This record gives sequence, structure tokens and C-alpha cells, in this order.
Amino acid sequence: MLLLLIGQALSCQKEEIEKKTDLTQFPYQPKSFELNISSNYPDMRIPADNPLTVDGIALGRKLFYDPIISRDSTISCASCHNQDLSFKDGKPLAIGIDGQIGRRSSMSLLNIGYNSFPLFWDGRVSTLEEQVDHPINDPLELDHDWGTLKEKLKNHNQYPRLFRAAFGIETVEDIDEDLISKAIAQFERTLISSGQSKYDKVLRGEATFTDDELQGYLMFFDVVPDLPDAECGHCHAEPFFTTFEFKNNGIENVTDLNQFVDKGRFEVTMNELDIGKFKTPSLINAMINPPYMHDGRFQTMEEVLDHYNSGGHRQINTDPLIQPLGLSEKQKFQVIEFIKTLTDSNFLENPSYSAP
Ligand code: HEC
Ligand code: HEC
Repeated sequence: MLLLLIGQALSCQKEEIEKKTDLTQFPYQPKSFELNISSNYPDMRIPADNPLTVDGIALGRKLFYDPIISRDSTISCASCHNQDLSFKDGKPLAIGIDGQIGRRSSMSLLNIGYNSFPLFWDGRVSTLEEQVDHPINDPLELDHDWGTLKEKLKNHNQYPRLFRAAFGIETVEDIDEDLISKAIAQFERTLISSGQSKYDKVLRGEATFTDDELQGYLMFFDVVPDLPDAECGHCHAEPFFTTFEFKNNGIENVTDLNQFVDKGRFEVTMNELDIGKFKTPSLINAMINPPYMHDGRFQTMEEVLDHYNSGGHRQINTDPLIQPLGLSEKQKFQVIEFIKTLTDSNFLENPSYSAP
């Protein structure tokens, strides 16, 4: 009798656990999602094993904004990637869990899905899916561990069915690092230029530059021989206003490569000539998200222009385009007027990018 009772209790418990972990009762009707890409931007390459779906993006967006993703559930990806600041954070160095100061500046996520080069200032990961692991485990950022995070998500009152809707999983046990990363990467791929900046409109013939903007444009892209070359457009090239490449743009006042505090790309390649090279950031929305550079050393665009105009500091691998430019005060102002036309306010205000 006693044995029978114990047997019944055990099987009841098992059923209950199964009921809790079984997700097949919830709907899975994947709808593919088409990016609304403006005519002056190219198509995006999406990995075959992580197609964009409406529910995948919704889940990624929720995870991106949810502090559940940090060790003590206090900060999220959005703490350092804020839509109002084109997904940067307005600080020279990122501030992570427990208010700890990181070693580099946050990076914009605008057009991140187009990035065909490795990610981060030093290029230490190659895909958005792979990238997610880094902030989650970084002791200066979210300082979490996958095991605990997965448990939190499995026991949550909403996430299991959201993972089901996004990926068709059948039990909560299938919630794992792979799917968490895939969902966040899907959301990130939706963060694209709206095609409504003044510059976009000028390209399509829907607006015209002021005289100062035009002069700035001509110098930025070295279009005419009778104006000084600002050289910017070689590295901050159309349509993303970056080539995504790693360069030494001469900001560090040292003579010897070994004196670089942050060795940048070298940390990944171990090639000495990569010391002090960092990823070229996009200039779209640069006007609204100072401070600038991997360590946030410049507070204003004027300081940035003064740096480039001076020719910067020379080490053996400083890019040859970094040289005294000879821009007058007026011409520096005009280059900045041109950079202002790259501001994409529709991107900053797009309701589908905000906290869900
Ligand atoms: C504490 C602040 C902080 C948090 C939290 C944070 N990031 Fe970042 N993010 C940064 C910093 C700083 C960098 C640049 C780090 C480097 O290059 O070493 C960066 C870089 C990136 C990049 C690379 C961009 C590029 O152009 O190469 C991506 C993508 C990214 N973060 C996504 C995320 C996601 C997704 C999350 C949440 C899972 C997240 N970040 C959480 C600060 C943060
Ligand atoms: C040789 C390539 C090269 C040229 C030419 C160049 N840049 Fe850069 N730019 C870079 C790199 C690389 C970085 C990042 C360096 C770092 O953080 O250490 C950068 C960073 C910037 C930033 C900071 C963006 C941010 O989000 O932090 C601004 C603004 C900028 N450049 C504007 C310009 C302007 C304006 C010109 C022309 C006067 C110019 N650049 C010319 C390669 C270049």
C-alpha cells in the first residue's frame, strides 16, 4: 500500500514536470521578416541557419532590453547600447555591473548586420551570434554564466513560450546559448539606416545640400582638386561611412608601437604591425553620440577635426592617409556640416527598436 502511494506520488510529480517543461501546447507559426531596406543601401546577408522571423526578432528585442541577462539582474545590453544615442552610451568608457568601468568605449549597433568584418574594436569575434557570449560572460559587463541564465529563462513565466514561438522548441530544456544568441542577433540585424537622413535624401534627389554642406562633402570625399583633401571618405566610405577595417588613425602620442596602452587589433592577430589598429566606426549619427574613439578621448567633433587636420601622431603603421590636411577653420566647420547630414533621426525614433 505504502509503496503504491509512493509510486503514485512519483508519477504525479513526473507528469507535473512534463507539463511544465512541455511547450507543444503553445503555438509555433513562424512568419519570415523582410527588412525594409532603403534603395541606396544593399541587401543584407543573413546566415542560412538563423533566418529573420517576426517572433525571433521580438524575442531578441525582449532579451536585449531585459536585465535578467546580467548576474544580479540590474543591467541589460541596452544599458550600454541606448537607442537615443544610436546604440552607444554617451560615456568615454562603458560602465558595467556594480558600476565597474570597462576598458573601452561602447560601439554603435546601427547597421551592425552589414558588418562583414570581425566585430569589436579589435575584431575578436566574427559573427553576431558568436558575439553575444562576450558581454554575458565579461566580468566588467554583464558578468553572468550561461547555466544560471538558462535556468532563469526556463523558469520564467513568459520566456518558454516566446522561445517556442521563435524557434519551435518542444521543451524548456531546449532553451540554450545558441537560441539566446540567435534571437539577439536577429534583433540586431533589424537595426538599419532608415534611408531618411538628409544625406540619403540628397542622394535620391529629394533634397539639396546647403553651400557649406556641399563644400564639406567635396572635401570629405576628395571630389575636386582645388579644395584640400580631408581624406575621411577613404576609411569612412559609403554607404555605411566605414569600410569596417582596422587602422591606426594616429591618435596616440607615442613613437614606439610598444608604448600603446591598448594594443587593439594586435591582441587578436599577435602581428606587431597591428598594434594600435582599431575598427573604423561608422559616421552615421556620429554627431549625436560623442565622445569619440575606442577610449572616448575626444568630446566633440571639433576636437576630432583638429586631430585629423594636425596629421596626428606617427608610428610605423599609422595609415598614410593620416597627414596634415591644411583645412582652414571654415573648412573644418564645413566638413562637420556635412557630417550632420548623416544624422538619421528616424532610426533614433523608430518605435520597433525601443524597449518592448
Ligand atoms: C557594460 C556595457 C556593455 C554591455 C552591457 C553590452 N555591451 Fe556591447 N559593447 C560594449 C563595449 C565597450 C564594446 C566594445 C568592446 C571592445 O571592443 O572591446 C561593445 C561592442 C559590442 C558589439 C560589437 C560592435 C561592432 O561594431 O563591432 C556588439 C554587436 C555588441 N556590443 C552587442 C551587445 C549585446 C548584444 C549585448 C547584450 C548581450 C551587449 N553588447 C552588452 C559595451 C557593452
Ligand atoms: C586611415 C583611415 C581613416 C581616415 C582617413 C579617417 N578616419 Fe576617422 N577613424 C578611423 C579609425 C580607425 C577610427 C577609430 C580609431 C580609434 O578608436 O582608435 C576612426 C574614428 C573616427 C571617429 C570616432 C567615431 C566614434 O564612434 O568613436 C570620427 C568622428 C571620425 N573618425 C571622423 C573622421 C573624419 C571627419 C575624417 C576626415 C577628416 C576621418 N575620420 C578620417 C579611420 C580613419
